[in-house]
Amino acid sequence: MTHKKLDGLKFTWWAPSNIALVKYWGKKEGHQLPANPSVSLTLNESKTRVELNVLKTEECSQNTPWIDLYFSGKKMPSFIPKIEKFFKHASEELPFLNDYKFLLKTENTFPHSAGIASSASSMAALALNLVELEQTVKGHNFSETEFWQRASFLARMGSGSACRSVFPHAASWGETDNFGSDLFAERVECHPIFKSMYDSIVVVNASEKKVSSRAGHGLMNDHFYGKARYHHALTNWHHSIEWLKDGSWDNLGNLVEEEALSLHAMMMTSRPGYILMEPQTITAIHLVREYRYRTGVPLYFTLDAGPNLHLLYPEEYRADVSKFLVDLKDQLGANVSIIDDKVGTGPYRIKEKEQL
Ligand code: DP6
Repeated sequence: MTHKKLDGLKFTWWAPSNIALVKYWGKKEGHQLPANPSVSLTLNESKTRVELNVLKTEECSQNTPWIDLYFSGKKMPSFIPKIEKFFKHASEELPFLNDYKFLLKTENTFPHSAGIASSASSMAALALNLVELEQTVKGHNFSETEFWQRASFLARMGSGSACRSVFPHAASWGETDNFGSDLFAERVECHPIFKSMYDSIVVVNASEKKVSSRAGHGLMNDHFYGKARYHHALTNWHHSIEWLKDGSWDNLGNLVEEEALSLHAMMMTSRPGYILMEPQTITAIHLVREYRYRTGVPLYFTLDAGPNLHLLYPEEYRADVSKFLVDLKDQLGANVSIIDDKVGTGPYRIKEKEQL
């Protein structure tokens, strides 16, 4: 079946990455369902642009691949298998995807593999384009709420953490006793202190991860501490929702550090176990804590599944922390770089900047 209407269409979205405060680590049976609820802050500067082109039928031959991709202007075949897998899953929901061929043009504002979750931003941007295509096929627009929920639902199929990237400021993903769904994320209420929060990302190693997140999630299945971890995360999720709302940053900051170290403890105690932190990660953790205890500046760290640190702090401490970051970089060595980011307002369609 051919949908003439889609031929030659083009959509473009920017979507940001996000940093989890309560970590998603481990999956339930099914497709990309989280073993525990997670909460994240949406970033502002670290983002991905995805332009989705539906190729004109007359421009395609039998040899034209289903999906072709350019990253920063260069053909990038190594990125295609993950996107194809995503499209295969998405086509169960959007069967028309099988009737067309697609050209994707993408770019990141941050270096690829800088330890910033590029799968979150890229899958979120791609999912938003797919929702627009779906609207065109169906010939009607979703309501505002339906639109973002659909985008989150589709983004989840590409990468779990991506489903949180479609919302401004703060989002939660995963079913709990009184809130949420495993199928998509939702925006959560947050105090103004978090809407202007800084995240300075200390990149101690920008190379590709030794163990992928996907493999790491898999190792949680028979993990000795699995059940305890999911219970712990659920408890932390409840606290984080409350503290996000009332602005208790010191409480939340301590919880965020605990979550980061629990995540890495899970990796270290998997079978086989592995360590993604580097000596500089540990040095930085000591220096951050020593600085916080000495000055009272509420600077807290978190880590994703890699060696790089995200340093979170309220806007009013920006000048103090900037000085600390210069010292930190001196102590960690010349190969360390810092990417300044902060909490942002979520994805936007190119040209007409639309925020929730
Ligand atoms: C440590 O979302 O990258 O960043 O669903 O397999 O694509 P897949 O995994 P992914 O895992 C993210 C793990 C994390 C924690 C988090 O963002 O919640």
